[in-house]
Amino acid sequence: MTDVTAVLDTGRAHSARRYDYWLGGKDNFQADRDSGDAIASAIPWIRDAARENRWFLQRTVRFLARDAGIRQFLDIGTGLPTADNTHQVAQGIAPESGILYVDNDPIVLTHARALLTSTAEGRTGYIDADLRDPSTILDAAELRKILDLGQPVALLLLAVLHFLPNDEHALDVVQGLLDALPTGSYLVLSHAASDLLTPADQEKVAVMSAPGSPHGPFRMRPRDQIERFAATLELIDPGLVPVQRWRPDPNAELRPDNEVGMYGFVARKAN
Ligand SMILES: C[S@@+](CC[C@H](N)C(=O)[O-])C[C@H]1O[C@@H](n2cnc3c(N)ncnc32)[C@H](O)[C@@H]1O
Repeated sequence: MTDVTAVLDTGRAHSARRYDYWLGGKDNFQADRDSGDAIASAIPWIRDAARENRWFLQRTVRFLARDAGIRQFLDIGTGLPTADNTHQVAQGIAPESGILYVDNDPIVLTHARALLTSTAEGRTGYIDADLRDPSTILDAAELRKILDLGQPVALLLLAVLHFLPNDEHALDVVQGLLDALPTGSYLVLSHAASDLLTPADQEKVAVMSAPGSPHGPFRMRPRDQIERFAATLELIDPGLVPVQRWRPDPNAELRPDNEVGMYGFVARKAN
């Protein structure tokens, strides 16, 4: 196993720990809090956006486990454990579900134990690997222990693809993963959306996410670019929408699109 202390750079902000800070977690360092506060002072709704994204994850996993009969989940860019992680939602509905988590941040690895609390009937696993090199995920022995690639799998890529700045590379990575999954599999994706933001917020995010910035690099994409990730798939109703509008709870008060700034969708591999 990786020597985490050797690779844990606490002097620089990391996306997993900053996100944890916005969600009210405790697994972050001063550099993450400084970066999180700097972004939140420019974009005051960022914490609500993080929470909305998390609720989108929970609603979509619930849909997949309860309505689509999915029993296998590959959650890449897992983030730090919080309430209602993928395995708790899925196994709460179908205890026999298998969940494989993947992240490349050593801090997530140190907390993987909290993600590996499976039901007796199901299984959970964790791989310390990089989405930019999908073969390290697909060829991992742990993947075969947790997932049967002869059966449908839900691939979860939530709030992670905006850390892959090159458009064509990001599309290739997603397609490569989908190619390894059988017909009947699903893709759940959420992504920071440039066209949902006001021009003033777009400008602020562009400055903060430029290469060399202490917060970046980070690539927001417009709707048509995000739609390309589903080009070979069938979108599930209501299609690609701001995350808070994806089958919201009936009594939910919907935040304005320009104060969440993320699109999401669920799509099915039909052939
Ligand atoms: C904003 S968090 C999202 C967490 C969770 N998916 C969610 O939506 O609540 C982004 C996560 O992606 C991980 N990540 C970023 N780039 C990655 C990469 N190239 N490979 C694997 N994980 C990555 C970060 O470490 C972090 O845990």
